[in-house]
Amino acid sequence: MTYGEVRENARKTILNCRACPECNGLGCGNTLPGPGSKAPGNGAHVNWQAWKDIRLNFDTFAEDGPVDIGCTLFGRSFALPLMSGPIGSMTQYSKEDVTVAFNDGVMEGTAATGTIDCFGDGLAQVTLPGALESMVRHHADAIPVFNPLQNDAIMKKMDIFEESNVLAMCVVVDSAGLSHWKHAGFHASSKTVEDLRELKAHTKKPFLVKGIMTVKGARQAVEAGADGIIVSNHGGRALADVPGTAEVLPEIVKAVKGETTIIVDGGIRHGVDMVKAIAIGADAVLICRPFAVAWFGGGAEGVKTYIELLKQEFSEAMYMVGARKISDLNPEMLRFK
Ligand SMILES: Cc1cc2nc3c(=O)[nH]c(=O)nc-3n(C[C@H](O)[C@H](O)[C@H](O)COP(=O)(O)O)c2cc1C
Repeated sequence: MTYGEVRENARKTILNCRACPECNGLGCGNTLPGPGSKAPGNGAHVNWQAWKDIRLNFDTFAEDGPVDIGCTLFGRSFALPLMSGPIGSMTQYSKEDVTVAFNDGVMEGTAATGTIDCFGDGLAQVTLPGALESMVRHHADAIPVFNPLQNDAIMKKMDIFEESNVLAMCVVVDSAGLSHWKHAGFHASSKTVEDLRELKAHTKKPFLVKGIMTVKGARQAVEAGADGIIVSNHGGRALADVPGTAEVLPEIVKAVKGETTIIVDGGIRHGVDMVKAIAIGADAVLICRPFAVAWFGGGAEGVKTYIELLKQEFSEAMYMVGARKISDLNPEMLRFK
């Protein structure tokens, strides 16, 4: 199965998404509910474009040899510095709630390819227990990403995973202001450094904060003891007219590199984008929307097909910029507009 075939298959069943040849936020635009961006609907595209505005310096001069794309994150070894992104509720893509099945397929695919799955907690009661079962069954390296409810509620959800083999625990902070929480009867709340410190202290697992877009936010997450941050604007779904993540990544790297693990998402689609993110200083990337297409188009096989394509693209792009291992990647390999 090629990724093109996966996309074609996905088109038959996926709702609100056109499974475009290039997932650049233009096809879904202002479709919420749906996988698009907050009105006026350009956020996902701004993310995508920001990576395209960075060029690769095409210079193959280096000792010949194999390219090693492996990495270590939170004490475990992986085949590629890649995480699949959390989708709390697949009702954005389907009339039936297929979230549990989606998480299961993505975990099977990421486990089989030596990569990491991040899963969301959504609003349905079955999502987290279902994800835990899948994680155990597939021996997946997975990270639950908890919604920004009040700390007591988050801590109860953390407890479900504390004795499991989760790679880390993560709380997403950027969606706290969304009105759908109130409509659904949930109390979402913005976080202070003290709140994050309390969550960090509640678990022995590495603790991550998702939704960092400023140097101040990154420093505060570090101050709270975060073992990792995910530079993310929620794919343009939470607030319009914010910068692309590629625009803010360099200053965040400059501020906190070495003090916490830096992961970035938003419009990353290809191996070349991964090279750019890691050359700037990210330790890993997270990709979300294409995994929905991959799963609708081929289940766990579709997920594996997409990841194998990324591995090939990433390895080739590394070779073309003269890198033979991930630590060779550096900003001199890039050209900024
Ligand atoms: C339909 C949909 C649902 C999402 N649900 C969540 C969620 O529950 N929790 C979360 O942290 N991020 C959620 N996100 C944001 C993604 O995890 C990711 O941060 C964002 O889409 C950017 O990555 P991308 O451009 O590769 O899609 C969701 C995104 C989409 C498209």
